[in-house]
Amino acid sequence: MDPTVAVIGATGAVGEVFLRVAEQREFPMAKLKLLASPRSAGKRLTFRGQQITVEETSEATLEGADIVFCSATSAVSKQWGPWLRERGVIMIDDGSAYRMDADVPLVVPEVNGDDLEWHNHIISIPNCTTTPLVMALNAMRQVAPLKRVTAATYQAVTGTGAAAARELMAQTEAIGRHEAIPPIEVYPQQIALNVLPQVDDFDEDDYTKEELKMRNETRKILHIDGLPFSSTCVRVPVVLSHSEAVHVEFESDAPMKQLHEALRAQEGLVIGEDPKTWVSPLQAANDDRVFVSRLRPDRSVEHGVAFWVVSDNLRKGAATNAIQIAEELIRRGKL
Ligand SMILES: NC(=O)c1ccc[n+]([C@@H]2O[C@H](COP(=O)([O-])OP(=O)(O)OC[C@H]3O[C@@H](n4cnc5c(N)ncnc54)[C@H](OP(=O)(O)O)[C@@H]3O)[C@@H](O)[C@H]2O)c1
Repeated sequence: MDPTVAVIGATGAVGEVFLRVAEQREFPMAKLKLLASPRSAGKRLTFRGQQITVEETSEATLEGADIVFCSATSAVSKQWGPWLRERGVIMIDDGSAYRMDADVPLVVPEVNGDDLEWHNHIISIPNCTTTPLVMALNAMRQVAPLKRVTAATYQAVTGTGAAAARELMAQTEAIGRHEAIPPIEVYPQQIALNVLPQVDDFDEDDYTKEELKMRNETRKILHIDGLPFSSTCVRVPVVLSHSEAVHVEFESDAPMKQLHEALRAQEGLVIGEDPKTWVSPLQAANDDRVFVSRLRPDRSVEHGVAFWVVSDNLRKGAATNAIQIAEELIRRGKL
């Protein structure tokens, strides 16, 4: 029988894309419950041509769900995760609350779908910068072992949520009308016509939490403890799709031809065959695929490459990956 599905955070940036992706992929469901905070109760959202009323997230509204997609806040994930687990309900969590827990698989199905075999009802999806990166690294490590990874990101405002997208648009419109910028609420500085070299709060060693998430999650998904990794995460005035400039050093020779073949074979990834062509965030928007381009040798190390990777942060970076995990659970007979 098809599962009863609940979406916590249905009114958010990820939640709304989740509905469109579930429609497009014809994800099987007997019933769909749309849940959010009390602020959104009564709001109506369209799914498969039907209007569904959003309800407050509560024990009563979660009752009867077989699988819960949670795209809200860490506090919300922590509030409902244990409650759902006790009842044998699977929660696929978009947030960072459980990602590094030893008993929680952190999954990109095309990379480490086998980790779904040992789930204990809570399954996390990675940060939206980690997912495209591990897809590219997973392909490349088939050619030679990874020795070191460095990256700089160019992250879209929808990665912060719907309110950040509204802030960028409001500032951009004010600039266009030669008016004063409205009060800044989401970011530490104006984001329109600017770039901000800080994503999330500062943490260990003066790296930001986003930079540490990228490092720790990459190691966990690829099962490479201690992989040398450093990144600088930057917010840019782009609405949709995160971009990353990545440098990879290998333990041994990784011929370009074999790297191309491995990237071509990686499910869900498109490799630009001509290194002089590239894919922009706008071109990757509303697409489920991860795009690698500008692949070229990095002559500053003995065995290395540099490349550009782009993907839609709300799709493969969030909603699509969550739905693919559920599809994979069904395929493995685990839902
Ligand atoms: N955006 C991305 O690219 C991305 C990628 C990967 C993972 N994620 C993760 O996905 C999650 C959601 O991100 P988002 O960008 O969609 O954020 P968002 O646009 O700010 O939406 C947040 C959602 O959470 C709901 N919510 C807030 N408090 C709640 C509560 N107490 N109970 C139930 N629902 C509550 C909100 O409902 P109301 O509308 O009622 O306030 C809204 O639906 C975050 O954990 C984020 O880290 C995001």
